[in-house]
Amino acid sequence: MGSVSLKIGDGTTRFKRASLCSSAVNILMLFSVITTNLFALFAFTYSPEQHLNQYPRKSISLISEQVSLILKEVDSSQRKPAQMEKELLGYDSLDLSRPNLARELKLFLEHNQLPLGKDSRTGITEMVASVGHSCGKSADLLSQYMSYKVSGPCSDDWSLGQKLILRGCEPLPRRRCFAKNIPKVGLSPFPVSLWKPVGNKSVTWSGLGCKTFECLKGKKLSRDCVGCFDLVSGYEAQKYVKARGKNDFLIDDVLAMGNGGIRIGFDIGGGSGTFAARMAERNVTVVTNTLNIDAPFSEFIAARGLFPLFLSLDHRFPFYDNVFDLVHASGGLDMGGKPERLEFLMFDIDRILRAGGLFWLDNFYCANDEKKWFLTRLIEKFGYKKLKWVVGEKIDSGKSEAYLSVVLQKPVRV
Ligand SMILES: *[C@@H]1O[C@H](CO)[C@@H](O)[C@H](O)[C@H]1NC(C)=O
Ligand SMILES: *[C@@H]1O[C@H](CO)[C@@H](O)[C@H](O)[C@H]1NC(C)=O
Repeated sequence: MGSVSLKIGDGTTRFKRASLCSSAVNILMLFSVITTNLFALFAFTYSPEQHLNQYPRKSISLISEQVSLILKEVDSSQRKPAQMEKELLGYDSLDLSRPNLARELKLFLEHNQLPLGKDSRTGITEMVASVGHSCGKSADLLSQYMSYKVSGPCSDDWSLGQKLILRGCEPLPRRRCFAKNIPKVGLSPFPVSLWKPVGNKSVTWSGLGCKTFECLKGKKLSRDCVGCFDLVSGYEAQKYVKARGKNDFLIDDVLAMGNGGIRIGFDIGGGSGTFAARMAERNVTVVTNTLNIDAPFSEFIAARGLFPLFLSLDHRFPFYDNVFDLVHASGGLDMGGKPERLEFLMFDIDRILRAGGLFWLDNFYCANDEKKWFLTRLIEKFGYKKLKWVVGEKIDSGKSEAYLSVVLQKPVRV
């Protein structure tokens, strides 16, 4: 996910500034051109009587020709940077008239006029399917994704879909084919399912390096998922109930800070769903946000009887404002790129968290002092109450690394 870059924020402001400036210059240009031409016109028309019949008409049309030429020039000079900006951002490039675009894609994206005209309640006149604006940048991949036989089986191409998502094509278009079917045999009833190993055959392995859970066991899939599919012998089964160091907070301690008001939560970059599992044991419902990077995270979480949300971190969270009692995030929060990227994300987390709700930043890796300073300052900006704040060091392959673990309480803002 680190490779996904988000340039919109900066790009748009630059674009605005540039266009503001250029339109001011354009207006000035236009004004001077028109006044000069008006003077010329005046000079021509204010000639002795005998000229009046021959020249003025010609000169007026000449002048208006000139003005329209200049207007055209002004218009195109204004359009050029806008066009360039659009191409850079990828907004303007999903051209449905392009040849070789899958028919299903055109059909899905077609605007549908409301039969009775404007709807008075919502104010809309047509219905438009939603698809990520960057889809146009990957039109060929998208077209491949949308090439199938209607009502037939889809290709086994979930990884193509994920590839598109990672390129900013999110949400993906809907399709009219049947996704590959996996017989989910041997699912256990809840809550036994929370800790029961999931069968190799219950998940799709296509497009992944590993083909069994055995193979995933020894792998470090991310900073937060080292052997996280091993629910029996590894640290995974002790996570959140047994601390390895002062950076590991225990779930019961954090829940106690919520004074019994923690009922629903959201886990960002939640690995194999162990946070949600531990919360489920305490009757707290947690949605786990994950993609399937190098492992079948979503299906594994679902097999545990938990709620996986297949969404990249660049997508606005599909939840209403002020709904969650708790948001938990760990290393997955480190998105890379410009600092503003993390800031957008933090504002979205703040939005979905209710006043009095808890934000638990769990073992966030601070690559350098600058990162730590930026994050600390960002947190200060939100005015949260610091219930717990620990900066610890861990040794990883001989190197000392700084980690930040905090529990914050969202204030009531008036
Ligand atoms: C998955 O397959 C491996 C290798 O075939 C086997 O050793 C392991 O027991 C299987 N695991 C599950 C959970 O079925
Ligand atoms: C969870 O809810 C069940 C059913 O209401 C209850 O029996 C159980 O004690 C609760 N567990 C906890 C940890 O609160």
